[in-house]
Amino acid sequence: MKKGKLYVERNFKVAQTDPRLFGAFLEHLGRAIYTGIYEPGHPTADSMGFRRDVLALVEELGCSCVRYPGGNFLSGYEWTDGIGPRESRPKRLDYAWFTIESNQVGIDEFVDWSKKAKTDVMAAVNMGTGTIQSAGNMVEYCNFEKGTYWSDLRRKNGHKDPHNIKLWCVGNEMDGPWQTGQLDADDYGKKAKQACKIMKWVDPSIELVICGSSNSSMPTYPSYDRIVLEHTYEHADYLSLHMYFHENQGQAGFLSSFLTMNDFIHTVASAADYVKALKRSKKTLHLSFDEWNVWYNDPVRTQAFSKTDPVMGQNPAKLGNYFDGPPHILENNYSMLDTLAFGGLMMSLVNNADRVKIACLAQLVNAIAPIVTKENGPVIRQGTFYPFKDMSMYGRGTVLQAVTDIPTLETPNGDAPAVYTCIVNNEEKSECTVFALNIDQEDMMLSLDMRSLGEVEMIEHRLLKNEDLSATNTFADPDCISPTQGAVLPGKNSSPEVKIPALSWNVLRFRYA
Ligand code: AHR
Repeated sequence: MKKGKLYVERNFKVAQTDPRLFGAFLEHLGRAIYTGIYEPGHPTADSMGFRRDVLALVEELGCSCVRYPGGNFLSGYEWTDGIGPRESRPKRLDYAWFTIESNQVGIDEFVDWSKKAKTDVMAAVNMGTGTIQSAGNMVEYCNFEKGTYWSDLRRKNGHKDPHNIKLWCVGNEMDGPWQTGQLDADDYGKKAKQACKIMKWVDPSIELVICGSSNSSMPTYPSYDRIVLEHTYEHADYLSLHMYFHENQGQAGFLSSFLTMNDFIHTVASAADYVKALKRSKKTLHLSFDEWNVWYNDPVRTQAFSKTDPVMGQNPAKLGNYFDGPPHILENNYSMLDTLAFGGLMMSLVNNADRVKIACLAQLVNAIAPIVTKENGPVIRQGTFYPFKDMSMYGRGTVLQAVTDIPTLETPNGDAPAVYTCIVNNEEKSECTVFALNIDQEDMMLSLDMRSLGEVEMIEHRLLKNEDLSATNTFADPDCISPTQGAVLPGKNSSPEVKIPALSWNVLRFRYA
């Protein structure tokens, strides 16, 4: 068995985790909203049509805030279509996902849903077909108390109290040719600056997230980020990052995706810091990693939940029609291997808590999601549900710098630690949690030097492992990937040694006096 050492030093503080690091994303896409969170007539539906079985799992997942309504959908969305009496809401073509949008759920319903789900809302304004005035109107509708056209309209629509949405995205992936109304960096930067001004004139208490590059393979990355910030630095509160991963460089490359994510975060932070220097600004811009996940765009993964799933990349509009009703698209069925890679990505976000303050798992229900529903049927947790839940439950506190002496593996992303770690110390609860992902084929005996905390008592070892890396959770076998308990060391100790099994996700919980 390999051996490794981890030094847990309570004074080597990286940052406090912002609760919004444990956020997610719901877009009008496929069955995320319709037959996902909202399905009137479903046996568990409440009086508003929200599925209670889904609400229960969202709460169990521990998700802190949810980004809405898109995504690519956002850039062609007229938010006023989704307010007022449902029977008079228009049906519209959604150019992003080639679907006819019924508008039966809009911002008011989403705010109602979020209250039931106990999550905050991260709203978004359309910078594709949308105008800067429309962005201001939406903030006024949601946050202004009363006595103006838009605020009184909200009250007339049944919401007397303002929604008070504090976090707003100014557009989505505006560099992407797939985006409705794509803009180059200068054009987006100029438009976003004017939108920010109006939005903050309506409600100075809000925080704004500006789009950076859609991902690191964009030809304009990272200068897009720099140019946009040159226009918006004074107005922006966060810069947005997105990145999706899949197995395209073999197992070791996939499992070490956390290295790619770390690099991406550092590069984007450097672009922001360059502009900080250029502007002689005192403000350090934080990051909002508001789309991240494992995402496969292939028939095997997308058709697992429904044999009739259309395959992404087929454009039904080219065939002369749009999906009428929520289509089964992007319904990835995640394997044990995906779950492990996913755990590493989550740890990367938390390890970078000094710069990343907001992160949204894309997405939450049905479309590339940890929660999957059957229309008029049950709901299941995918494997990826568990690392998210673990980190949301035990990753709140002070992130400590993980100083390690751990053997490395050669991977296409460079040398990676065979066991990747993340330490979160919760001083209020006198609990310290070590997350450990073993990406190696061999077990590792990890010795933890925890002397800075005094004598510690191990209180739990949550373990996620399945010998079959291709195992998935399905409606027929919903618990194929599910957590078990590893061995808990007896007594108190300041240098515990814990076995981290090959290819496994581990949560080691300790209590100190
Ligand atoms: O999450 C799916 C899509 O991925 C989003 O709509 C878009 O922003 C990104 O390209």
